[in-house]
Formats: sequence, structure tokens, C-alpha cells
Amino acid sequence: MNQKEQSKKDPDKEIQKSEDDKKNQHHHGRGMQKPPEEEEEDIRARAPIALVVKAPRGMQDVLWEDMRYWDVVNDTFKQVCTSFNMKHVSVPVVEEAALFERSIGESTDVVEKEMFFVKDRSGSSRLALRPEFTAGVARAYLENGMSSKPQPVKMWYSGPVFRHDRPQAGRYRQLTQFGAEVIGEGHSIIDVQVIHLAYETYKALQLDAFRIDVNTVGCMNKNCRPAYLNSIKRHAQDNTRKLCADCRRRAKINPLRIFDCKEEKCQMVANTAPKITDHLCEDCKNHYQNVIRYLQDLGIPFKENPRLVRGLDYYTRTAFEIISTLPSTDPLSGMALGGGGRYDDLIHLLGGPPTPAIGFSGGIERTIMQMKSEGVEVKVDDAPDVFLAHLGDLGRRRSVKLLDDLRRAGFKVGEAFHKDGIKSQLRNADRMRVQWTLILGQKEALDNTIILRNMESGMQEILDLNLDSLVPALKKRLRHEIQVIH
Ligand code: HAM
Repeated sequence: MNQKEQSKKDPDKEIQKSEDDKKNQHHHGRGMQKPPEEEEEDIRARAPIALVVKAPRGMQDVLWEDMRYWDVVNDTFKQVCTSFNMKHVSVPVVEEAALFERSIGESTDVVEKEMFFVKDRSGSSRLALRPEFTAGVARAYLENGMSSKPQPVKMWYSGPVFRHDRPQAGRYRQLTQFGAEVIGEGHSIIDVQVIHLAYETYKALQLDAFRIDVNTVGCMNKNCRPAYLNSIKRHAQDNTRKLCADCRRRAKINPLRIFDCKEEKCQMVANTAPKITDHLCEDCKNHYQNVIRYLQDLGIPFKENPRLVRGLDYYTRTAFEIISTLPSTDPLSGMALGGGGRYDDLIHLLGGPPTPAIGFSGGIERTIMQMKSEGVEVKVDDAPDVFLAHLGDLGRRRSVKLLDDLRRAGFKVGEAFHKDGIKSQLRNADRMRVQWTLILGQKEALDNTIILRNMESGMQEILDLNLDSLVPALKKRLRHEIQVIH
């Protein structure tokens, strides 16, 4: 091999190759040939294979083109929650299955049909992927002794949840929820604050094509929901032949679940069912009337929907949903962007003292679909502020340090340090759509200068490489405020 050929070789690959050679020598002895079967084995191991492993059904990758929507939704929700004086919390993705069974209810779709169970190696616990946040947050409230903090405790969260439903547009098996829970206060004004927070979030995301449905599902006082459930049971019995097999069974144990059945014939039975608002106890009636009054005072548009019961068993009193009102041609039309309600009995059910609470969760995927359908633009300027090109070994070595200094000074810097030729580096800079490129060569490194090239005009000037003068000179040209990272 001549010297030229030697210098073309990638030094990193050379090191790797000699490591591999060493390993082979170790296995087969110096200079020994591998037996033919082993050689074949190696080739098969290295042969390219068709991609057989795909993302699980109903679960999706999010790439950077879409991630900007995700960032906007998460940032907006965080801002709104912070302005409502809420604290950020995180709870485990996996919990004891019993937590969800107790909280959400064993005869709900979410628990009965959609929960993902997780096998624990020890086999000693029954775990499940969380199908929602509320149960986990309620458990965390109790387990962390939050009842001794000033009440109510206001918390927000965001993260993946899992439901084994039939995937379709707007319905996934791994979905992402953002949400808030206010635990420790039963006043109706809290209900309105939570609905307000949801409303503000969607408005801040510049969404218009949605409506807020509000209802009450009463309480467990025998003159309230239990009396209503009896009248629903009677209604279901009168219409039993019109119900699907699931609803016929559920009508006996949990008749409210007829309201969230996706079968059209069951929805027709639900539509003619008695209204809960005709069966409320005095306290629930007053609570509901106050919620309506405060919503009106705040000018939050809403629609009373006496058929809204929500699909989870823990609800008491206020229940609400944010429904997409996009045209019927849109797959999201009529779907819930978010929902929530009061769950005054849940903390007690989990072993804590009677503690009223209310919360809301929204689905990020549906929110983003809604933003796209409504034409909400999320602009990103992902071009670096400046590209740093180098020439020669000394130029590269100085550039590595300079990039770090510029990054700390708040610049987003593009580079292609792995490349040698200036032409191909400038091509990279063009592809990144940068306006300014700094070029640091051997001569500049020795002179303590650097070339600044305007990528549009091709004009070049020489700047001082000293950071004290380089940083302001760049800022002046970039003409925008750059945040300094400390
Ligand atoms: P949820 O209505 O079951 O409520 O879910 C909230 C939101 O999550 C839905 O409105 C929807 O946007 C989204 N979502 C639910 N399932 C799917 C799915 N399969 N694919 C895509 N998006 C979906 C709860 O989870 C309650 N924890 C809300 C709450 C908080 N109640 C009190 N506090």
C-alpha cells in the first residue's frame, strides 16, 4: 500500500479493524483459518435482512417534522397550567392493575377491554400500563401525604397512556395525554377553573372548531344517582332487544355504560333514556347550577348535554367534554379532544379520607390533528444561526473549541466537522439554509482571525477570532436577541 492510499483510510475504522483482527486471533489462533461452517455463520449474521420488526399496531413514531406540533402543545399547556398556579408531577407508566380496576371500574371499556397487562418477572404482582393518569395521580396524592399540604393541591402532567382499542384515525393504542388534577376542594368554582384551564389551552392553540359539553352525573346519595340508575335499568329492560350483548349484560351491573357504547343501536336506546338532571339530589342540583352560573360569568361558551356521562366509573357531579366540531368529512368530527370531571369518592375508595377532586385530560394526537385540520401553522426556524466550516487539521481543532464557545454564547451552530473539503462543507451549510458561515483555516488560526461569509451574496469579511469581539459582531449581523446559556 502506498502512502497516498494509507492517508485516504479513515483512522477510526483502522482502529476498529485492528481491534477486530485481535479478537479473531484470540478466537482462532494467530494465522489460523476459520472453519468453513463458522465463516458461513458470520456471513449470514451480517447479511442484510428485510425489516421484520415494525412499530406495534396503533403506536407511532413522531419525527421532527411533527414534533414541532408536539412541542407547541406541550409548551402551551405548561404555560397555561403555570398561569393557573399548578405544579408539574410525573407518575409511573406502570401501576398495580388493581389501582385502575378499582378506580376506573371493572365493567368500563377501558378496564374490561382495553388494558395492557405487564408481566413482572417475579410473577408476584399484577401490573398494567396506565390507561389514564387520574388514578395514578390520586394514588400519588395519598402515598406522598399530600393531604397535609395546603388544599387544594393543583397538579398537571403529560405523557403516554395505553388503551388496547381498535386503531383508527384519532384512536391509538399508545396515545399521549396532557392533563390537570385539583385534589382537596369540592367548591363548584374549582370545577369552573378546571374547565377554564381546558378552554384556555385550546384557545391558546388557536383552535375554534370545538364545543364544551357540560353535565352532572350526581352523587352516590340514594336519592341521587342510585335512584337514576334504577330508572335507567328499567329503561334498558324495556329496550333490552335493541341492545348489544355487552350492554344487555352491563345494564344489570353498570347501566350508565350504555351511554358510552359505540354501537349505533345502543346509542339510540341511550338517546331516549331518562335524564339525570331530573333525578338530582338538592346538593348536586345546587352544585350544577353554580357551575353553570360561573361559566356564564366567565364568558366560557358551553352546551348543557344531559346525556354526557363519560366512560369512567369514578365520576361524581360535574362531567365535561371538549368535542371537535370540524365538518363531518373530517375523521375527527364529533370526537372528544379532551374530557374530565369531578371524582369526589375516588381518594376515599383508594383508602384515603373523603377528599373531593376534579380534573381534565386532553389527547395530544387529536389536538394536533385538530390544529392541522383548522390550518393552525406552527412555524419553525430550524436553520442554524451560523455554520462553522474548517480547513486543515489546525482549523478543525480550533473550530471544535470555538463551536462550544459560540454555543455557550447562545448561537445555534451548524457544522460538518467529519468532512475535509470546504466545498462539501459549504454545500451542507446551504442545505441547512444558514445565512452566515464562519470559515476557520490554518492561516486564520495562526492570525487569530476568522472569515465570515454571507451565503446569499458570497461576500466575505475577516473578523477577529477573539470571542469578545466575534460574539457582538455576529449578534449585530443576526439582528435578533440570543439567549445566553449559563
Ligand atoms: P378520557 O376521556 O378517557 O378521560 O381521555 C381523555 C382524552 O384522551 C380523550 O378526550 C381523547 O382526546 C384522548 N384519548 C382517549 N383515548 C384515546 C385513544 N384511544 N386514542 C387517541 N386519543 C385518545 C380520561 O382519561 C380521564 N382521566 C380525564 C380526567 C382527568 N378526568 C378527571 N381527571
